[in-house]
Amino acid sequence: CGIVGYIGGRQAQDVLISGLAKLEYRGYDSAGVAIREQGGVIDVRKKAGKLVNLASELQATPLPGTLGIGHTRWATHGLPNDTNAHPHASEDGRIVIIHNGIIENYLPLKAELIARGHEFRSETDSEVLVHLIEEKYAGTPGDLYEAVRLALGEVRGAYGIVVTHADHREIVAARTVSPMVMGVGEGEMFLASDVPALLPYTREMVFLHDGDMVVLHDDGFRVTDLAGNAVQRQIEHIDWDAEAAEKGGYDSYMLKEIYEQPTALTNTLIGRLHDDTGEVNLDIGLDPASFKRISIIACGTAYYAGMVGEYLIEQLARIPVDIDVASEYRYRDPLVSEQTLAIVVSQSGETIDTLEALREAKKGGARTLGIINAKGSSITREVDDTLYIHAGPEIGVASTKAYTSMVSAMLLLALWLGRARGTLGGEQARELLHAARELPRLVEAALAPERVARIQEIAEKYAHASDYLFLGRGVNSPTAYEGALKLKEISYIHAEAYPAGEMKHGPIALIDEDLPVVVVATESRLLEKTISNVQEVRARKGKVIALLSDGDTENAQHADDVIYVPRAHEMVSPVVNAVAMQLLAYFTATALGKDVDKPRNLAKSVTVE
Ligand code: G6P
Repeated sequence: CGIVGYIGGRQAQDVLISGLAKLEYRGYDSAGVAIREQGGVIDVRKKAGKLVNLASELQATPLPGTLGIGHTRWATHGLPNDTNAHPHASEDGRIVIIHNGIIENYLPLKAELIARGHEFRSETDSEVLVHLIEEKYAGTPGDLYEAVRLALGEVRGAYGIVVTHADHREIVAARTVSPMVMGVGEGEMFLASDVPALLPYTREMVFLHDGDMVVLHDDGFRVTDLAGNAVQRQIEHIDWDAEAAEKGGYDSYMLKEIYEQPTALTNTLIGRLHDDTGEVNLDIGLDPASFKRISIIACGTAYYAGMVGEYLIEQLARIPVDIDVASEYRYRDPLVSEQTLAIVVSQSGETIDTLEALREAKKGGARTLGIINAKGSSITREVDDTLYIHAGPEIGVASTKAYTSMVSAMLLLALWLGRARGTLGGEQARELLHAARELPRLVEAALAPERVARIQEIAEKYAHASDYLFLGRGVNSPTAYEGALKLKEISYIHAEAYPAGEMKHGPIALIDEDLPVVVVATESRLLEKTISNVQEVRARKGKVIALLSDGDTENAQHADDVIYVPRAHEMVSPVVNAVAMQLLAYFTATALGKDVDKPRNLAKSVTVE
């Protein structure tokens, strides 16, 4: 979703519409603005569909006013209709808010508010915030900033929130997971989810951090934390051109998307994990008792996410799973029945091989589930249920954040099935839920500057190798496959991946002093076995690049180079380990001068057979 806010001397609707247009890449199924007129009346205008619907209506009948907030929505909860579009107004119409994210404890909050006499008009979790702020405002009294701050103190979840009140010429905003940047003008202030929305107006910007609150006036701003303490944030001069701005200042979309993973993972997981009860809520209609086996079908990177899924589902839910690349599945006359659940995994939801394989499974009577990123894509229209991964738009051809979000969605599905089928006990479920919840933080740690710099050094050291071998075991054998695929795709170095234990049955013949071998050897039940495989490589003079868990100094002696990754529960480690693989491929490709965003011969979404 995208947010824009404006206070100053211009007509707010022009700034909002031009800003929202720059944010449309974040998804659009409805858009809305709230504009405060001179004298303090707030008008709300919202429209389902693309931004152009709203823009043309505003052109025909403009909303005058120099303070306003606007939103483009990519629905996660509730239908993309006019009512569910933002902004949401309080019962008296004097407080207006826009909210991105999910309020996890909205059900108990809503029950309390109803008991105190509030009337709700929508099913959205965002409406809870409006009522809560309204109530706090009456108690402060008349201090909008304080009302928002107190309301946020009762809320658990993720939010970017922007609020305005008919009686005040100010905008109050706060953020946790959703990004927010403030633009500082002369006698005017701006707010947006992303830099491109503000570039036509100002280059002086303040990036808000997690937990920041801000109050905007015509001539300035004030930042605090959620406890109300003043916080200093630097104004930065942004000299990016429009294209660089879309890449968020990174050299490529791929690198930007690698760094977006903590946020993408939060969005995949949020609202779905209930640590206290050990339950997972997927909001899908699928009956977990309606099938006896599962077929996972996908292409490319999505296929490797499916491989992790195969492992997790069999482990946690004890259901037989097989996995196929879609182009094989379609033509091999697969054994399908009404007892089959076919899971198709796809970032774009448009890959023709996957779509045709889905149709094949349906012909045989299978129930179908999509694990998909792109909202409303072709596959989502043909499956019985969709589990969206909510990774946000992925532009780099080599998939990064979609992969880690797909793997996390697979984990959620495995946990949900395991609980529903009684194969996963409450205690183990809680432990795994806790491990899953840690993922955004662990991936953030995996992206710490000193770790990234170390991977870059290693990548540069081996960039002139003509071949690479990747090894892993168990739930991390797909990590090896995905690592090899990333390297092939963007650096054009030939790379192969094998389950580590299989190496001795063939690929060991390739090993000599020129062959770098990347071994995923993070903490696991099979670590000792993996280390034996490392020694087999070493004994043949292969160069070992080992992925080890933080603190594993003992096994470092077996490697030529070590990439340390944050310690993670084995079942969630493929997500953390994938980040190191992505960075290794990225820095190898850039060392060789390749264009990582547009690798030769590849397309982001392949809609031909
Ligand atoms: C293309 C891309 C791959 C991608 C595959 C599946 O081949 O180049 O990076 O993994 O399609 O795409 P999907 O959108 O179905 O996940």
